[in-house]
Amino acid sequence: MNAEGREPQVMGDWSARQYLKFEDERTRPPRDLLAQVPLRQARLVFDLGCGPGNSTELLVGRYPEAEVIGLDSSPDMLRQARERLPLCTFLEADIASWSPPPRTDLLFANASFQWLSDHPRVLRRLLEALPSGAVLAVQMPDNTREPSHVLQREVAANGPWAGDPGMIAAPRGDLPAPKEYYDLLGPACSRIDIWHSTYNHVMATPQAIVEWFKGSALQPYLSVLDAKAREQFLSTYSEKIAAAYKPRFDGKVLLRFPRLFIVAVR
Ligand SMILES: C[S@@+](CC[C@H](N)C(=O)[O-])C[C@H]1O[C@@H](n2cnc3c(N)ncnc32)[C@H](O)[C@@H]1O
Repeated sequence: MNAEGREPQVMGDWSARQYLKFEDERTRPPRDLLAQVPLRQARLVFDLGCGPGNSTELLVGRYPEAEVIGLDSSPDMLRQARERLPLCTFLEADIASWSPPPRTDLLFANASFQWLSDHPRVLRRLLEALPSGAVLAVQMPDNTREPSHVLQREVAANGPWAGDPGMIAAPRGDLPAPKEYYDLLGPACSRIDIWHSTYNHVMATPQAIVEWFKGSALQPYLSVLDAKAREQFLSTYSEKIAAAYKPRFDGKVLLRFPRLFIVAVR
């Protein structure tokens, strides 16, 4: 549910190429998440919302003995992931209705659950489906109050597209507070660790911030617009981003990016 109590728009197909423009920065959070997974070994690992396979590759590196399976709803992302890791299995599926097989050791989900409507319910269901000792490890952007997202909502609410139902449904809602995840998941866990990290990504220009979000949070807005309106939306958004993210001493800008991490042991 988003802040206004509406269901967020279901993601359409994603562009793996656009997403991977910032691969190093986007792969840092899954690295930090994986570092906290308390499993020495694993036999069966799923990467939920595997995208172009960048997070899957980390899992293969950490658990070379395991069968690592990537799952995503986007054919473009899956195509890229299969090219990158031809020895892994990739499944096209919706996390919201998928269930892990009984011998699963790890469900890893980096930057995917925030796209699911009612993701807390799905997290609890998946955790309950795991055998004792298995791990659910999740990272979600917690950046809906950052200028990057406030300005997306501002542009959406003020252009000629303002009344479009797709546009109204596009904003992602705030994440629940850590204490809410604790109360929801804690009763189904033997151990739970919840923390925030705020990254400060160094971006070459304010326009790079726009490019970054074209590969993720801007997708629901842009997907409901025709080419001309999309250009207009992006141009207004770019102006606002340039005003909000001021150049530092070297002309670069810092993209502040808070993220929420959860590692739950069944
Ligand atoms: C931001 S990307 C994350 C990619 C990768 N895990 C990473 O660490 O960079 C989010 C991915 O989640 C996928 N996704 C979103 N909703 C999904 C759903 N309901 N079921 C399966 N995949 C989903 C998208 O297609 C996209 O590839």
